[in-house]
Amino acid sequence: MKPKKITIAIDGFSSTGKSTIAKQLAKQLNYLYVDTGAMYRAVTLYAIQLNYVNQDKLEKDALIKSLDEINLTFKYNEKLSFSEMYLNGKNVEQEIRTIELSKLVSKVSAISEVRKKLVEQQQKMGEDKGVVMDGRDIGTVVFPDAELKLFMTASPEKRATRRYKELLEKGHDVSYADVLENVQQRDYLDSTREDSPLIKADDAIEFDNSDMGLKEQFERIYQLVLIKRNG
Ligand code: DC
Repeated sequence: MKPKKITIAIDGFSSTGKSTIAKQLAKQLNYLYVDTGAMYRAVTLYAIQLNYVNQDKLEKDALIKSLDEINLTFKYNEKLSFSEMYLNGKNVEQEIRTIELSKLVSKVSAISEVRKKLVEQQQKMGEDKGVVMDGRDIGTVVFPDAELKLFMTASPEKRATRRYKELLEKGHDVSYADVLENVQQRDYLDSTREDSPLIKADDAIEFDNSDMGLKEQFERIYQLVLIKRNG
């Protein structure tokens, strides 16, 4: 008998390695991987381009009015074995990862109308199961009935170190202090916003990977997947 397809929801603070584990699981299981943070980042990029948002302002009503103009798609890049984010047909994978954009994304993702649009799209992408989705509200709002829910944590310093290295490798010009401040700022904003704050779902399994290697983490999580899939 074929194992049943399940939904895997991975939530947690920024830079906790959610996407690394989600990508590994999706590859191993031949499931669809959806990086919902990339979608919030792409909407933020759109808002920046139209000058609706900067460090001092947010033109919420103007952004809400133009939500129908925003078309988000993922396209699989064979070479990178990774689905890249496209905003209105343009590959924005690089632009959405900058520290400048990271400083504005929590503001934009706190808008309920933005969340409603993206959550609907995410639910559609996962309607046939066989999906690994990472974000902040996947186990609580997008797929409250997901068979497996993980909640990832790690100390802010560990996370900032990981993010800092990643950004340097990708050629971004940043300082560690700036990255740490951004990680802490986003933790605060994402978990205190009114609509769908980042909280652990009651039935999510918490993983603190501050001192856990990737291999060990994957093996432990994969065991959980097998139990849920065969159960
Ligand atoms: O996963 P990430 O760091 O790329 O996400 C960027 C931001 O998007 C994050 O700070 C909060 C927001 N986000 C969200 O509100 N809900 C999600 N499901 C995913 C991300």
